[in-house]
Parts: sequence; structure tokens; C-alpha cells
Amino acid sequence: MDEVSKKRVFSGVQPTGKVTLGNYLGAIRSWKPLQEQYECLYCVVDLHSLTVTQVPAELRKNTMDLVALYIACGIDPTKSSLFIQSHVHEHAELAWILDTIAYVGELNRMTQFKDKSRKHADNINMGLMNYPVLMASDILLYQTDVVPVGKDQVQHLELARDLAQRFNARYSDTFVVPEGHLSKSGQSIKSLQDPTAKMSKSDPNDNALISLTDDADTIRRKLKRAVTDSDTCVRHGADKPAITNLLNIYTLCSGVSMADAEKSFEGKGYGEFKDAVADAVISVVEPIQAEQKRLLADKAYLESVLKQGADKASYLAQKTLSKVYRKIGLIPRIR
Ligand code: TYM
Repeated sequence: MDEVSKKRVFSGVQPTGKVTLGNYLGAIRSWKPLQEQYECLYCVVDLHSLTVTQVPAELRKNTMDLVALYIACGIDPTKSSLFIQSHVHEHAELAWILDTIAYVGELNRMTQFKDKSRKHADNINMGLMNYPVLMASDILLYQTDVVPVGKDQVQHLELARDLAQRFNARYSDTFVVPEGHLSKSGQSIKSLQDPTAKMSKSDPNDNALISLTDDADTIRRKLKRAVTDSDTCVRHGADKPAITNLLNIYTLCSGVSMADAEKSFEGKGYGEFKDAVADAVISVVEPIQAEQKRLLADKAYLESVLKQGADKASYLAQKTLSKVYRKIGLIPRIR
């Protein structure tokens, strides 16, 4: 397929806290194979992270760590555009236009807004409510066809689709209406301490999550402490949410099918099973960590990747934004 006819992919992760195994298995892992078939834009969405109070030095560090992590996870800057959201000012500008067609009622209903308002009751800022509109802007700015995300982002993606359709109906065809792309079993990796909740970067209990920066001993210890279900049998099913979650993690990290995994742990206890899950997770995480470390030592390379990514993204973003401005009746600046 040539450049022109390739469909476009956009996705991003917030540079807040520790990137988890959930982020990796639910989203980032699926980005690499998409590069072969699509024109991909992968973004570190730093503006999104400002909806929760950040320490500036930590935000800067997390942002560069995430850039290196994307590449360590297989994003090839010669195939995909890798950039930082705040480097392309059109994201914030299109968000304002989309704000004028988004309803307060629909933003108020967003599950993540309600959750985060509960968790950050002392800082329910406008950005928190506006967050899904900025996310719609990220996606629509690039005329994105496909958005690989985990299950927790599906409601936001629906809003992006609604806003695209609403704008198109009001001002004539302007935006591509994007589709979601969910990984099969990784779409919702659960907390190790509560298998009814998702594994989340912001979980105050560090034992609930595996961070991509955790060392082998930490991973092993966290998996040992992971909650289990009442019987001792290693099988998946709705009545066994904790073991199902561990089996999901195991199959995704080892490449062994669910049926083969269940067969190989027949008659064996949870202890042996958890050791095998730890081995599988460590075998995935360690090479990523080594590559991330190597990349972080080469600042000049990372900066060149970011420059090239932002240049490409800006070009595409400007094209969409000027089309939008024209359609809604804004007069272009004389140059
Ligand atoms: P964020 O940074 O919270 O998460 C990044 C990606 O990881 C997925 N994810 C999970 N998948 C499976 N199991 C889990 N436990 C789990 N936790 C997180 C998320 O679904 C996501 O795909 N709003 C987005 C970032 C964003 C974005 C975008 C994504 C901003 N603009 C445009 C796609 C397109 C977010 O907060 O993701």
C-alpha cells in the first residue's frame, strides 16, 4: 500500500506516574504491528496529564521516559510519527472549537470524569471535565481511521465519534469518523488486589499494579501477593475473576493459549502458577527496560525523533484545522 492510500492510526498515553502492564497489554503492545499496515501517529499526551496536579520536574522526566518507552516497545520512528502533544498547538485549538459543540450534559456523564472527581475532590477543574473533548481533538485532527485503546477509553472514543458526526452534519463532511481497535484479551487488565477494578497507574496501593519499571524481584513479590479466588484450581471463568486476570496476563506475556495454559497447570497449586506468571511477565518487561535505558542515554537521538514527529504531525494538523476554521466562518489570516 502506498502512503496516500494507507489508513491512519492515532493513539496516546499520559505521562503520569508509572506506566503499567495494563497500559502495555491493553494498548501499547498492539501499536507495533499496526505500523506495517497503517500510517501511525503515536503521541505522548502531556496536556491531558495537567488535569491532575503535576510536579513540573516529574512531568518532564515522565514525558521523556515515555518517549523512550514507546520506541523500546517497538514503535519505529522511521515508520511512525512519534511526538509530544504540546508540540503541536492545533490540539488545544481544535479542542476549543469542539467545546462549542459538546454538551455539558454529555461530559458530565463520562464515567472517568465521575471517578476522577471522586478521587480528586479538592481539584475538580474544568480540564478534568473537558478532557474527552481534548482527546476527541487529538483523534479528529489527524482524520484518524483507527484508535487502538483499552476498554476504559471506549466511552471517550464514542464521544469523539459523536462530535465528528455532529460537526459533519452541521458544517458538511469534514472529519473522518474513527473506529476503536481493542486488543482481544488485554483490553482490561485488572488490579492485582481487586480483580473487579482495572489496573490503574494512579492506584495508591502499589501492590495492585505492575509497573513497566518494576524489577524482577518486585514483579515476583507483587504476583505472590496477588489475590486469588476461593478454590485452588487454575482455570478461567466469570466465577474466578482473580485467576482469570492472572491467566490473561500469563497467556499474553507467554504466547501460550488459554486452553494449553489451563492444561499445564492442572493439579498444580497457585504458588507454582504465580511463579510461572512472574517468569512470563519478567521475560516481556526486562528487554523493554534495557532498551528504554539505552535510549534515554541518547538524548540527541530522542530529540531528533521528536522534532521529526512534531513536524509531520503539525503539517497534518494544520491542514485539518484550516479546513475547520474555513467551514465555521473564520477569516484566514493574510500573510
Ligand atoms: P491512559 O494514559 O490512561 O492509558 C493509556 C492506554 O492504556 C489503556 N489502559 C488499559 N488497558 C487495559 N487494561 C488496563 N488496566 C488499562 N489501563 C489503561 C488505556 O485504555 C489507553 O489506551 N485518555 C487516554 C489517553 C489519550 C488518548 C488520546 C488515547 C489522550 N488522547 C487519543 C487514544 C487516542 C488515557 O488517559 O490513557
